[in-house]
Amino acid sequence: MTTIRKAVFPVAGLGTRFLPATKAVAKEMLAIVDKPLIQYAAEEAEKAGIDTLIFVVGRTKNSIIDHFDKAYELETELAIRNKDALLQIVKDTVPEGVNCVFIRQSEALGLGHAVLCAEAAVGNEPFAVILPDDLIDNEGDNCMQQMVAVYDKHQGSVIGTQTVDMSESDKYGMVAGPKVEDRVAMVDEIIEKPEPAEAPSDQAVVGRYILTPAIFDVLKTTERGAGGEIQLTDGIAALRKTEEIFSYSFEGTRYDCGSKIGYLQATVEFALKHDELADEFGNYLRQLEV
Ligand code: UTP
Repeated sequence: MTTIRKAVFPVAGLGTRFLPATKAVAKEMLAIVDKPLIQYAAEEAEKAGIDTLIFVVGRTKNSIIDHFDKAYELETELAIRNKDALLQIVKDTVPEGVNCVFIRQSEALGLGHAVLCAEAAVGNEPFAVILPDDLIDNEGDNCMQQMVAVYDKHQGSVIGTQTVDMSESDKYGMVAGPKVEDRVAMVDEIIEKPEPAEAPSDQAVVGRYILTPAIFDVLKTTERGAGGEIQLTDGIAALRKTEEIFSYSFEGTRYDCGSKIGYLQATVEFALKHDELADEFGNYLRQLEV
C-alpha cells in the first residue's frame, strides 16, 4: 500500500495571464490537445497510487466540479449512439475507487493559503500537492511516482525541482542544500522569487510537493510574502527549522502551462505524440517551415 494516499490540487488562482479565457473557466480546465490540464494532473496522482483527490477551487469552481462529476446525460447519449470508446473516455475521468473532494478557497490569498484550506480533508498524514499548470511529461515513472519513492526512502517532505537559468530566479521558489544521492539533496535554504543576485542556487521549485501534515500549523502563522500572498515556499522554509526536507530533481520535461508560451509548447509536443494527430500535424508543421 502506498504511503501517500491523498493529493491536493490548488486550482483557485485567478489565472490572470490567460484572461479572457479564464474569466469563467479555471486555467486548469484549458486543454492540451483534448484533455484538460487538471485531468493530466489527476492521472499522474492516480498512477502514483493516490486515491483521494482534493481540489481547492475558487470562483471558477463549476467547471472543475462538473469535469469530475458523473455526466449522466452525456453518458446516456453516447450509449444510445453506440459511441463506446468515447463513453469509456468520459467514464474514465474518475476511475473506480478514486474519491474527489472539493473545498472552496473564498479569496485567492496565495498558494500557501490554498494548501491550508485542505487541512481538514487531508488530516494527519503526508500528502502530495500538484499544480496542474506545471505539466510534466516522462516516458518512465511519472513525476509523482518518482517523488513517492523518494518519500518512502527518506521519510521527509520532498520538493520537486528543476534547473533554471539564473536570470529567471525571480519567477520561482529557489532551493539549495547538500546532495544526498543522485537527484536528491537536503533543503537548507528555500526562498520565494529571489532576484538572481540573491538566489541560493539555480534549482527552482516546480509544482510537485510531498509534505508532512506539520506544514498546516506552520502555514497558519505564515505571513503574506512575495506578491502580498501567503506563500507555500515561506511555509516550507519555516517547516525546515523543525524537520528535514529533501529536494528532488525529477526526470521528465516540464511545461509551464500557466504561461502562454509554455502552454503552446506543450500543445505542439503533445499533438506530435497524439495517436490520431501525430502524422497530420507533423506534416502541417513541416509545410509551415518551408
Ligand atoms: P499562479 O502563481 O500560477 O497564479 O498560482 P494564478 O492566479 O493561477 O495565475 P496568474 O499568475 O494570475 O496567471 C500557482 C498555483 O497556485 C494556485 C493556482 O491555481 C495555481 O495552481 N493558487 C494560487 C491557488 O489555488 N490559490 C491562490 O490563492 C493562488
